[in-house]
Amino acid sequence: MNERQRPSEIVLGVSGGVAAYKAALLVRLFTEAGHGVTVVPTDAALEFVGRATWEALSGRPVQTGVFENVHEVPHVRLGQNADLVVVAPATANTLARAAAGMADDLLTNTLLTARCPVLMAPAMHTEMWEHAATVANVATLRDRGVTVLDPAVGRLTGSDSGPGRLPEPEQIAAAATALLAGHPRDLSGRHVVVTAGGTREYLDPVRYLGNRSSGLQGVALAEAAVARGARVTLVAANVAVPTPAGVELVEVVSTEDLRRATLEHAAQADAVVMAAAPADFRPVSFADAKIKKRADGQAPTIELVENPDVLVEVVRQRDASTRPGVPVVVGFAAETGDANGTVLDHARAKLARKGCELLVVNDVSEGKVFGRTDSEAVILTAGGEAHEVPLGQKSALSHEIWRHVADLLA
Ligand code: CTP
Repeated sequence: MNERQRPSEIVLGVSGGVAAYKAALLVRLFTEAGHGVTVVPTDAALEFVGRATWEALSGRPVQTGVFENVHEVPHVRLGQNADLVVVAPATANTLARAAAGMADDLLTNTLLTARCPVLMAPAMHTEMWEHAATVANVATLRDRGVTVLDPAVGRLTGSDSGPGRLPEPEQIAAAATALLAGHPRDLSGRHVVVTAGGTREYLDPVRYLGNRSSGLQGVALAEAAVARGARVTLVAANVAVPTPAGVELVEVVSTEDLRRATLEHAAQADAVVMAAAPADFRPVSFADAKIKKRADGQAPTIELVENPDVLVEVVRQRDASTRPGVPVVVGFAAETGDANGTVLDHARAKLARKGCELLVVNDVSEGKVFGRTDSEAVILTAGGEAHEVPLGQKSALSHEIWRHVADLLA
């Protein structure tokens, strides 16, 4: 959870499934982020993980019914005071009780009294998840504004596998963070590809041509897309920053690697954001052994050849495909003004040349942007609009970019 948060009050409902043990890790993630957590298990949940575990991890007493500590009126107080209610795992039974508006234990009472965002992370066998009753219950809950995550696909409790696994605690925590920050889940069900970092073109086994891109902007974009509900593939070129939770990482070194990986994933994606700085040139040849100094003192001449423009190829692949307008393609431009035009003049020409839908323009005149966590930018649209994004964290700029992408996809 890199995004800065104020401490919040979270009610963590746990219902009765084997995946209840993973909710213990979720308590840890929430408390380590500084949030207050009240765990409200169902009676069935306590068959899987006992009361002592929840009390020790949350540092708070735990109850399941409405007839304990009645003088504190917990059946209304918990829901009213919460900033967020998370139910993980949400079993088919708990989804059904929530959808029907039942109030037969402390958790369902809390769901009825909560006026804050509610996040549910289902876990059950595939047959139960796909049953018409569960499908209808999930639709009802989503209609009412509850965020119901799709379960992960993989090994289930027995030897079988399929959709029904509880999403990883880090993914649930990321969705919770987004809800607490008020971000919409407008990329839910979308697959996005983000490129990050700077490519390297090796001259010999130890030397390369590279650039100053840190990968911070691309990583912030990936994290923001996860928060807005997307499935995210991060094509990362020499990025030292840790990969955000819930992101599929594809590591690349050179512009050709980046080209191959990006085109492959772009073919199925809804959006591609090219935040990477691919090297524009590569050495014509690669020396298998380290290039030695010459006895005559002459420096070697390195002959360069131009690399393909990956962004242009992504646009070309999209335009030749059978999916009109998808993926939405976003480019970045680091520009300086000069005698031939302002930063925006150059950026407008680049947007037209590259054929993308959006171009995020950074003014790099005075060493701004590189390696910093903050950034100011202008988002140019193919329609000619220029949206200024004031100086702020790269995560804020990322959310602005995704807001525009989500609008275009809608
Ligand atoms: N880009 C790319 N492939 C390259 C170079 C750049 O896909 N070989 C992408 C970058 O990821 C970025 C955008 O193109 O999103 C703009 O890159 P930039 O280097 O500013 O553009 P150039 O076309 O190289 O223009 P310039 O002549 O200003 O360097």
